[in-house]
Amino acid sequence: MSTHNVWTHKGTFLLAAVGSAVGLGNLWRFPYLTGENGGGAFILVYALTIFAVGIPILIAETMLGRNSRRSPIMGMRFLTRTHNTSRAWESIGWLGAASAFLILSFYSVIAGWAIHYTWQMLTGSLAGADAETIGAGFDALLASPALLTLYHTLFIIASGLIVAMGIHKGIEGGLRIIMPALFVILLLVLGYGVANGDFAAAASFLFTFNIADLSLEGWLAAMGQSFFTLSLGMGAIMAYGAYMSSDASLTRTAIAIAIVDTAVAMVAGLAIFSLVFGAGLDAGQGPGLMFVTLPLAFAEMPLGALIGGVFFILVLGAAISSSISLIEPVAAFLVERFDMTRPQAVFAMVVASWALGLLTVVSFNIYAEGTIFHTLFGRSAFDFIELLTNIFMPLGGLLIALFAGWALTHSEVMKEMRTNETWFATWRFLVRFVAPAAVAFVFLRSIPQVEG
Ligand code: PHE
Ligand code: NA
Repeated sequence: MSTHNVWTHKGTFLLAAVGSAVGLGNLWRFPYLTGENGGGAFILVYALTIFAVGIPILIAETMLGRNSRRSPIMGMRFLTRTHNTSRAWESIGWLGAASAFLILSFYSVIAGWAIHYTWQMLTGSLAGADAETIGAGFDALLASPALLTLYHTLFIIASGLIVAMGIHKGIEGGLRIIMPALFVILLLVLGYGVANGDFAAAASFLFTFNIADLSLEGWLAAMGQSFFTLSLGMGAIMAYGAYMSSDASLTRTAIAIAIVDTAVAMVAGLAIFSLVFGAGLDAGQGPGLMFVTLPLAFAEMPLGALIGGVFFILVLGAAISSSISLIEPVAAFLVERFDMTRPQAVFAMVVASWALGLLTVVSFNIYAEGTIFHTLFGRSAFDFIELLTNIFMPLGGLLIALFAGWALTHSEVMKEMRTNETWFATWRFLVRFVAPAAVAFVFLRSIPQVEG
């Protein structure tokens, strides 16, 4: 079976992992969650989790993938056998697959909004529009299940096609074009925000904190976001790690991923909040934040239609480079386990997740409020699925940390890590004690409060 596919270059894992990490989580979710949760305190918990918990788990997850050279479910099975540990650890793979379905289902719907705005920009239909018109346009988009479903369908098909083409032609080829372009455009938007928005207000909103500002659900959201943004604890990184060159450094790569991802989130946050405060808009407006503020900026900017069009194409690029990493672990599993062809496996995964995505679609309109789902779960299906992922991803990460830290022996891990003893000891301390304690702390603090 396992053909031990590897990326073309030593550095391709880094490219693929950054492609997975940088996405809607940075450009859309990070700014809006920060806005909803009051700014600095949210960022503090988020950043601490990334560095004390995220990086060590990122190293662990990549290591498990590379050591098994299999998809997460089969990989965990393989590792429990070869290392003689309990089969219960296989739950890491299954939990990850469940997360992948859940995340892809709503990720694709939101990415679909970017298709809408790409179109609106390039046709110039928002040129000169004011805040009210743009807000109304966004509300109209959300009110249309047909339009949302159409975009959701287009996006998920595009992602599926790339993964179906395989890791070299599809995934590597796509990423080499998308990622550099994304960074250039992001800096352009930041430049515009600094020149035309209220940069000082944005910086003080993001970087002054009062920990008491953060609600208990905010703690969970901040931790969930730090896992989400690094694509952590659900098998995406493990699946890509399975193709990683044996000589690339696990530690250095993980640190680089976390730094690039955090930098992109901060730049996106600074750019968006400069525009928000400059235009006197509300920071806590929720999921529409990026989709309302940026079109407003583009509407007023010279060449805004073109720049805006390019920007939303790149949002799409960032989203696709992440969504493919949601499909890969499950598709690779179906190929390994059931001998499906890659296209068949992708099709199965994508269709199931697409159908689940319809729940997110109707969360914004037909089932927005006062309906049975709300009565049962106290929130919309979209919010409910997000809440599940806020729990599943840290939980997956916790299990990965425990498995790598406690179930595998010192020498087994050392062989795969190949760093010096000090680094190794630091990493091991973090995955054995710090990461589990931090995740448990946030769970105990916030989950009892999350009842809607
Ligand atoms: N990290 C991606 C983002 O920030 C989202 C993602 C989560 C992608 C999990 C893959 C796996 O947009
Ligand atoms: Na991210």
